[in-house]
Amino acid sequence: MIEPINKLDEKSHLMLHRTSRQDVTNGISVIVKGEGVRVFDQDGTSYLDLEAGGTRPVHVGYGRSELAQAGYDQMCEMAYFTPMGFANVPAMRLADKLAEITPSGIERFTFECDGSEAVETAMKLAKHYHYYRGDQGRFKIVSRRGAYHGVNGIGVRALGIVMPMRQLMEPLAPGSVFIESPYCYRCPHNLNYPDCDLACARELIRVIEFEGPEQISMFIGEPIQQGFGAYRPPAEYWPLIREICDSYGILLVIDEVICGFGRTGKMFATQHFDMRPDLMTMAKGLTSGYVPLGAVGCTNRVTEPIELLNHLHTYGNHPVSCAVSLRNLEILETEKLIENSEKLGRYFLDGLTSLLNHPSVGEVRGTGLWLAIDFTVNKNSRAPFPLENLMSIIARMKQRGVLVKTMGMALELAPPLIISRDEIDEAILILDTCISEEEKAMGLLR
Ligand SMILES: Cc1ncc(COP(=O)(O)O)c(C=O)c1O
Repeated sequence: MIEPINKLDEKSHLMLHRTSRQDVTNGISVIVKGEGVRVFDQDGTSYLDLEAGGTRPVHVGYGRSELAQAGYDQMCEMAYFTPMGFANVPAMRLADKLAEITPSGIERFTFECDGSEAVETAMKLAKHYHYYRGDQGRFKIVSRRGAYHGVNGIGVRALGIVMPMRQLMEPLAPGSVFIESPYCYRCPHNLNYPDCDLACARELIRVIEFEGPEQISMFIGEPIQQGFGAYRPPAEYWPLIREICDSYGILLVIDEVICGFGRTGKMFATQHFDMRPDLMTMAKGLTSGYVPLGAVGCTNRVTEPIELLNHLHTYGNHPVSCAVSLRNLEILETEKLIENSEKLGRYFLDGLTSLLNHPSVGEVRGTGLWLAIDFTVNKNSRAPFPLENLMSIIARMKQRGVLVKTMGMALELAPPLIISRDEIDEAILILDTCISEEEKAMGLLR
């Protein structure tokens, strides 16, 4: 007899990522099926997934048999061969495709297993670039407080947020340097845009001068940042960072791991700004989460001095993942999902503005289908909103069949790019109800 599927509890042999012992004791939902923008748990309960798989890769939605077929066909043809000294067809085709759709100038690509590995490889490429040019003292990496660039060895050095995660792994690799992030709703410099004159970007000059420009390899940042909830910097921010990096010979790495492949209503979020990166990291929407894959792209200027990339992963340039990615990119294009992200993103944001009537909703924002509701207990002072109340809103939403998550003091919304107007209306209604219930419990509502 087949055992029924139960919630996961302490008896399970499976370890979960970033899940507390208390949550395991309470029982963890087992997701057994996905269809469109909904997933189903062990009891058959369905959830509207406003987080595209929780970590937000599922751009084309669930249940795409075309992607299964692409993986199956490639496995039958040629499942695996080393990325060292040999090439394979899907990886070559995917590199060509990315050269076509990434911002102009990004010409060379290599493939890894996920976003963390892509970031790691970008950092290695930057080091190689300087090393082969005889600039061997450049090892420091400048990142931003509030950044997230993955969980691997060197990548952790750029980890500006999720404090317990960073602190537990300290000491960081030497050369981890941080500046503040652009977060105008709660400006870390206590200034107001535009009178601030972009102090958060200009801080980079002071930090470079202090650290020694001849020791700095690269600056890394997400074009639109997740840490405070889908935060888009002012238009001049990235051009100014680019100018500062150029004036000191520092490479600019733009981390498109979340933003890429239509999340923000353009193929890449870099395209919202008048700026060109030297290197770009990608993952998530690259395969819509159907198989693991990350990528790094860079300009010819970066690869030109490099005689040999001292780097090898068994699963680098994996043919099956690359074949699935090619099919996934075809779906994004033929179903016009980038355009859908832009159009439906505007519709979602319009709907969210109705929530500003709530005493706890300080700001709503969004670019494409990446949106956030920033909470406060005082709209004038923008005082912090307790995390336990945010978590309680999330629990209420789950009870009503909608999955969302927190980012900083915000609720973040990042649904599959196939979401419809009806599903957005459904989400806004439930958000409205759950926020009211929590405000009543907190005594904020009359
Ligand atoms: C901007 C950014 N970079 C890197 C990563 C790490 O990617 P992965 O979780 O695939 O290792 C993430 C993951 O959320 C991310 O958002």
